[in-house]
Amino acid sequence: MATHIFSSKLPNTGKSIFSEMSARAREANAINLSQGFPNFDCDPQLVELVSKHMKQGKNQYAPMAGIEALRIAIQKKIYIHRNISIDIDSEICVTAGATQAIYTAISTVIQQNDEVICIDPAYDSYKPSIIANGGKAISYALKGPAYRINWQDIEELMSEQTKLFIINNPHNPTGTTYSEQDLLTLARLAEKYNFLVLSDEVYEHLVFDNERHVSALEIPELRSRSFVCYSFGKTFHITGWKMGYCIAPEPLMDEFKKLHQFTVFSVNTPAQYAIAEYLEKETWKTLSAFFQKKRNTLLEHLEDSPLQATASEGTYFLTVDYSALSDKKDHQFAIDLIQKIGVATIPISVFYENPPNDTRLRICFAKTDELLEKAGAQFKKL
Ligand SMILES: Cc1ncc(COP(=O)(O)O)c(C=O)c1O
Repeated sequence: MATHIFSSKLPNTGKSIFSEMSARAREANAINLSQGFPNFDCDPQLVELVSKHMKQGKNQYAPMAGIEALRIAIQKKIYIHRNISIDIDSEICVTAGATQAIYTAISTVIQQNDEVICIDPAYDSYKPSIIANGGKAISYALKGPAYRINWQDIEELMSEQTKLFIINNPHNPTGTTYSEQDLLTLARLAEKYNFLVLSDEVYEHLVFDNERHVSALEIPELRSRSFVCYSFGKTFHITGWKMGYCIAPEPLMDEFKKLHQFTVFSVNTPAQYAIAEYLEKETWKTLSAFFQKKRNTLLEHLEDSPLQATASEGTYFLTVDYSALSDKKDHQFAIDLIQKIGVATIPISVFYENPPNDTRLRICFAKTDELLEKAGAQFKKL
């Protein structure tokens, strides 16, 4: 082994909780509500479109920032959705999923010892991406069940070293959304401390109860200093395609593309053509209603169980408090739950740098009604 020749860039990163819980679910033949992806297929038309474009010979490298038809389709979608104009040549880059957009954005701006403020519980790719680029993740811990940001407290973490602030709206794993007021406060602080913003908006189309998602793109003071990351995987039930994009103002995007050029160069060509064409159907307009129904189905099932559920405002997750049943640590309780009722979930503590003594689990409801029904019957046995 040649491990003595180099040091790990991520010495504290081990097997992910998602792999662990899914492996345990498989072993126990349990219902898997742990991983964040649908257990149903995408629109067959998407598959036909990829096949059509492959047969038509769209099989070579795409332009570095994405094919023009897709950049135009993205521009159109953002205009219809938010009445905002994006420049297709200077402000869009198509990426291999939001994860690559996030990594590339972090890598673009973070240098040795730069500080990045992350809101815990946080999506698992942020901190390793910061650390691998020599930065320091500064965590601000939210508390359940409301998981609201206290902006006075978070301001105490800001300083001249703060280079980037990562916000995820709607928020995985808590299912909360941030208001326009939250974003305006962030914009004011970003100007005061002069930092950039990475806004992870992969669940932008999953916002419930007639609320409207407020994007960093809509706040001019944020738009001018933000990388905003999106995922077609979440919007079209195609997480396995790893397709997404990043929007940023030209000076940021120019630097982003330099790294994109030498890490990915360009993204899957036939998938780009397929998505460009499919976007014309505007199916994203129906997504909130589709997932709200699933959230409500799960909430109804949980009502008759001792798990105390919080109705999520967005995403395809919700959290439950199990304190009425046990005061065990959440990781152990999640393992017990697989053994006891055959349902796999994710313990909230894994999304924290310094986990609070919380008794909450994350449940994914991007599942067929049949599976949610089965899980519901199991929860009632508790
Ligand atoms: C908050 C958040 N950001 C980013 C991603 C990754 O998106 P993609 O699959 O497009 O890389 C996920 C996926 O679970 C997510 O939950």
